[in-house]
Amino acid sequence: MPAPWNIVVIAGSLRKESFTLKVAKALAKLSPASLKMNVVTLHDISFFNQDLEANPPADWLAFRERLQKSNGVLFVTPEYNRSIPGVLKNAIDVGSRPYGKSSFLGKPIGIVSNSPGVLGGVNAAMNLKQLLPGITGPIMGQPEIYLVGVGDAFDAEGNLTKEPMQKVMQQFIDAFAAWVEKHNR
Ligand code: FNR
Repeated sequence: MPAPWNIVVIAGSLRKESFTLKVAKALAKLSPASLKMNVVTLHDISFFNQDLEANPPADWLAFRERLQKSNGVLFVTPEYNRSIPGVLKNAIDVGSRPYGKSSFLGKPIGIVSNSPGVLGGVNAAMNLKQLLPGITGPIMGQPEIYLVGVGDAFDAEGNLTKEPMQKVMQQFIDAFAAWVEKHNR
């Protein structure tokens, strides 16, 4: 199967004016032609409940199918209380089941954290690196990217206006494209 590679870009915030969503969209814009970036939000994914596993809700099945059909997954997450938001953990739990049949299996993974603060959501990114290995394909380790000060990085139309940030995002997405290519050949 040739490029473009179909990438599910998961934005980990439900907020309308979410910086995470803006970062995800900016990465989609910066991505090379070898990636087809599909930015998804998690509004429609119902709570994981193990009781429903025998007869899963349609929204779980749709999300799992989307992941299965992809060539890679890019997580873009804010940090909530030194971890990832509950909605993102819920989506990961939904995608990880049934046991042994995670829809993330084999998918090359990228992780981007961001914060209006000075630590860039590094703890959220580290949490993802801790919980994903058993249920995904290879997680790109480098370059690392923890975007700080995203609160004033976008104009009213959502365009990225901080040039240094654009540069690190470009480096990251180019490296991720190579990572996806490597693990889909
Ligand atoms: C936060 N925020 C935050 N920021 C951070 O850098 N580290 C943290 O641990 C937390 N914790 C936290 C908990 C909760 C419940 C909220 C609502 C917020 C601030 C957070 O980075 C900020 O609200 C971002 O704007 C959230 O991302 P989005 O929605 O803009 O993508």
